Amino acid sequence: MNLTTTPSHILERGVPFNVRVLTPNDAEDYHALRQSALHEQPPAFGSLPDDEPGLVETAARLAENEDRCFFGAFQDGQLIGIVRLSRYSAANEKHRAYLAGLYVSPPFRCKGYGKLLVQQALNRAVHTSGLKRINLTVATQQEAAIHLYQSLGFRIYGTEEETFSNGGNFYDEHLMTLELVSAAVS
Ligand SMILES: CC(C)(COP(=O)(O)OP(=O)(O)OC[C@H]1O[C@@H](n2cnc3c(N)ncnc32)[C@H](O)[C@@H]1OP(=O)(O)O)[C@@H](O)C(=O)NCCC(=O)NCCS
Repeated sequence: MNLTTTPSHILERGVPFNVRVLTPNDAEDYHALRQSALHEQPPAFGSLPDDEPGLVETAARLAENEDRCFFGAFQDGQLIGIVRLSRYSAANEKHRAYLAGLYVSPPFRCKGYGKLLVQQALNRAVHTSGLKRINLTVATQQEAAIHLYQSLGFRIYGTEEETFSNGGNFYDEHLMTLELVSAAVS
């Protein structure tokens, strides 16, 4: 796995797209895409649409800080994919972070955006001093996401049963982890 030489700008069928860190100016687009993600069925995310922060709080959350940042994938200026990297804040947990909220708008899937988003988040992680491990959880039916994470070195270390319910159905989640120290970074 090569995490550091991945270009943030690549050409997909001649159409330029890129991944960058989001800022408060992206709040409206981020909020709309996040709502699409939370309404997609079956549930890929544990959060409920009504519990999602409003625009003002979203803008505040998008202000990059040392321990948390949001990445967005753009095609022709349109935000079409998102992911978040958050470092644990407690002094005895700062060696790990978690990846969450990965989503690519359906018309733009299978073009490499999802993987590029995660690679950019991992690029940041490997260059963060003291960070040793990235964890995430993923609903077991999200096969594309599981495949993507495994292709970047994440492994499943457990499965939590009936983590979420929706419409009378229950959904399990895999717990996945990536040890940055063993990642092949060049
Ligand atoms: C998961 C998701 C972000 C992937 O985005 P994407 O832009 O389509 O992914 P990519 O095109 O970068 O593909 C990445 C890898 O996944 C594979 N993949 C994509 N769709 C797949 C599918 N339906 N089944 C199996 N593998 C799939 C690709 O072949 C690629 O593998 P490779 O690098 O070995 O060739 C997207 O499907 C999505 O938003 N799903 C719903 C939300 C979700 O499940 N989020 C995860 C929350 S933890």
